[in-house]
Amino acid sequence: MMIFPEIQTLSIVFNCLFFYVPELTKAGVNLKALEDRIRAEGKILPGPVLKVSSFLNHQMDADFIMELGAELARRYADAGVTKILTIESSGIAVAVACGAALHVPVLFAKKHLTSNVSGDLYQTIVHSYTHGTDYTVIVEREYLEANDRVLIVDDFLANGRAIEGLLDLIRQAGAEAVGAGIVIEKGFQEGGSKLREDGLSVESLAVIERMDADGIEFRGSC
Ligand code: G4P
Repeated sequence: MMIFPEIQTLSIVFNCLFFYVPELTKAGVNLKALEDRIRAEGKILPGPVLKVSSFLNHQMDADFIMELGAELARRYADAGVTKILTIESSGIAVAVACGAALHVPVLFAKKHLTSNVSGDLYQTIVHSYTHGTDYTVIVEREYLEANDRVLIVDDFLANGRAIEGLLDLIRQAGAEAVGAGIVIEKGFQEGGSKLREDGLSVESLAVIERMDADGIEFRGSC
């Protein structure tokens, strides 16, 4: 009879492990931690736009971002990636984290022609619904080559116009896009589904199904 409390304890431990372990990936990042942080620290602004400036978009949690980048790298470890491409500015941190894990260079499309940009350029126009603007992005031709296998990395995916712009730059270079690794996808906006329908591999670490005054709901979470 005395064994029952022990069995009960074992059963609780087993249940904890059973429900906890699947959230840990081989790279060690706890994707539930990402959802928890989005819920705890995210602010929902009109749009709706999710402000996660405490760890991703303004102030950056470097350790956490390194883990997120490593997880994206793990998902594309067998894709023969030779280059990461992102767009300034908030995608750069996670792109560098991913590039460090894959040991490949990280190139970012620039939104401003600065004095240190020279040589021939690839350029395209991006219309941002989120920001309500059109802008030109450029990369120097010498850094994007026809034999590159390019992984796009960005912090957010909403309507997907930024990624479509990056795909256009990759096309212009004659390179190949192997996929897009995203930290937060707003699944209620069309970008992710449209890119997947077009045949692009899209891996998002957190997909938001709904966000409003009642809170944030993630795809695949209970
Ligand atoms: P869009 O077509 O609706 O504009 O969406 P897209 O997926 O192309 O994203 C455009 C830009 O807006 C991206 O910034 C993206 O990171 C940002 N964005 C979209 N939705 C949200 C949101 O809910 N929260 C936050 N924080 N950002 C969002 P970007 O072009 O990479 O530039 P930057 O804003 O990082 O400088």
